[in-house]
Amino acid sequence: MATMTSSHTFQPLLHRIAAEIESMPGRGRPADYIPALAACDPHRFGMAVAELDGTVYGVGDWRQPFSTQSISKVFTLALDLAREGDTLWEHVSREPSGNPFNSLVQLEYENGIPRNPFINAGALVVTDRLHTQTGDAAGTLLEFLRAESGNAELAIDKGVAASESAHGDRNAALGHFMASYGNIGNPVPVLLDQYFRQCSIEASCADLALATGFLARHGIRADGTRLLTQSQAKQVNAIMLTCGTYDAAGDFAYRVGLPGKSGVGGGIIAVVPGHCTLCVWGPGLDERGNSVTGVAALDRFTTLTGLSVF
Ligand code: DON
Repeated sequence: MATMTSSHTFQPLLHRIAAEIESMPGRGRPADYIPALAACDPHRFGMAVAELDGTVYGVGDWRQPFSTQSISKVFTLALDLAREGDTLWEHVSREPSGNPFNSLVQLEYENGIPRNPFINAGALVVTDRLHTQTGDAAGTLLEFLRAESGNAELAIDKGVAASESAHGDRNAALGHFMASYGNIGNPVPVLLDQYFRQCSIEASCADLALATGFLARHGIRADGTRLLTQSQAKQVNAIMLTCGTYDAAGDFAYRVGLPGKSGVGGGIIAVVPGHCTLCVWGPGLDERGNSVTGVAALDRFTTLTGLSVF
């Protein structure tokens, strides 16, 4: 990993954005469904940009590990797609839901087939299928993140995973409901354990910006091998753009103009295909579960650089 230098193009920009964020009045509130997230200070802020060659620049708390939560759903999707290909799409759709990430309402109307892989129902299907393919979905994800970030220390926070499980009634309901339609292959408790561990991986902005690099490199991993075809990388980016921030995806596309994926830990990853990847972290969330300072920082990044898919 390259260390930041003040001479690089991105570095003054990151400092400018961090200074603007510092003076922002409203910061939202940390997720409060588990104590570990509720305890996060909404004034923490970090941002990292990784170039295609793995050079990474950052500002603020960019090396501070945080709970990746739903950001993990991008990587499990890619890992499963790489293994099973289009069969996955018989079990999960690719349309924005317009509903909150943990909503149950569409599932019955749509016969247990979730709207997309990023709402919780869809992510559970993906994790279930990845677990069937690998025998250890969360472990496969952790190994992938370690390899792509170059950080062998990445780990699951077992306390967060236990807390997720203790407050996991809604995810359990989603799992059992889909199982009743035959859309879950593993025992639901096994699936939930995998899903909660996946969400509880701790990683920093630097780690996640680097780990997302394969989506900017059209499917190529950090070591030069291919994870996804160019077409699959395009597909994952497209789903991030349309579904990555749930019922705020339209506003996120309008403001930021990049494929992005948020998590309730306050992180957001974003991709400028062919150019770079970003990760921002600010634990204060808006009412739809997206980081207030994170969205604002990405908005400023694309506005100031003109780097966008539009
Ligand atoms: O499944 C849950 O409720 C959490 N472990 C993850 C939710 C999440 O990050 C949604 N994204 N904004």
